[in-house]
Amino acid sequence: MIIVLGGKKGGTGKSNIAYLLAGAYQHQGVNVVLVDADENATCVNKAHRRNELFLQAEEDGDEALMQMTKSIPVQSIPSSQNARIPLQECKKNYDVVIVDTGGFESVAFKSVVMVADKIIIPTQLSQDDIEQLDPLFEWLRTQESDMRLRFDDYEMDIRAVFSRVNNYQASDKKEAREFLEEYADLISISAIAIKERSDVRKLSKSGLTYHDVKHKDRAQFELLIDELNGSREPLVARKV
Ligand SMILES: Nc1ncnc2c1ncn2[C@@H]1O[C@H](COP(=O)(O)OP(=O)(O)OP(=O)(O)O)[C@@H](O)[C@H]1O
Ligand SMILES: [Mg+2]
Repeated sequence: MIIVLGGKKGGTGKSNIAYLLAGAYQHQGVNVVLVDADENATCVNKAHRRNELFLQAEEDGDEALMQMTKSIPVQSIPSSQNARIPLQECKKNYDVVIVDTGGFESVAFKSVVMVADKIIIPTQLSQDDIEQLDPLFEWLRTQESDMRLRFDDYEMDIRAVFSRVNNYQASDKKEAREFLEEYADLISISAIAIKERSDVRKLSKSGLTYHDVKHKDRAQFELLIDELNGSREPLVARKV
């Protein structure tokens, strides 16, 4: 399965979700790889810091920390290149391929969406963030229509995921859901809301994931995996 994270807006938590999701899959014993298709190299850098911690643990003979910092496979591909062929290679070696992209204008994102099984669009809840989704969704709609000219049953599986949500945003969440429901002929809305947590920045410094530290929010990522596998229903399923 190829899962791509993308979106127009920066800072919505794409790389954070990609990395923590990879950690969750790995914890479940799934053969997963992270593909970093963003020149910011956020996931590559996190994995590098994790590896440094592992090497230090090895030097110190700290078995528990070595176990905790077991490597998450990460590959890097240029954002300016078509990612189709590198991803086909990845699919031969891994069961789940998670692709982190910078934004929807990158060649990498545009090429990955055509081969992705799941397209995750994280969004924050503010009006500014939600508004940014319209051009992205319309672009995805056009891509899907074009593909259908060649493959009758081609269907994109696009999931909007609320990200960086704080505890005081119940009304924002309701409004965001109502806005996104207008696109329910194209997308599904995930029931998972990734919370804004200061722990994200702390863990990122050492490339650790919620599963490494048994963080209370790790269940969110397990539920997201269930949704992606189809064993859990999203909040709003696409109405085709
Ligand atoms: N759930 C969260 N809680 C707290 N901080 C978060 C969360 N998600 C992301 N952040 C922080 O917000 C910043 C942007 O997050 P991230 O890099 O994941 O976003 P992005 O969508 O990948 O950004 P870009 O578009 O630049 O690639 C980072 O400093 C990250 O640590
Ligand atoms: Mg990023």
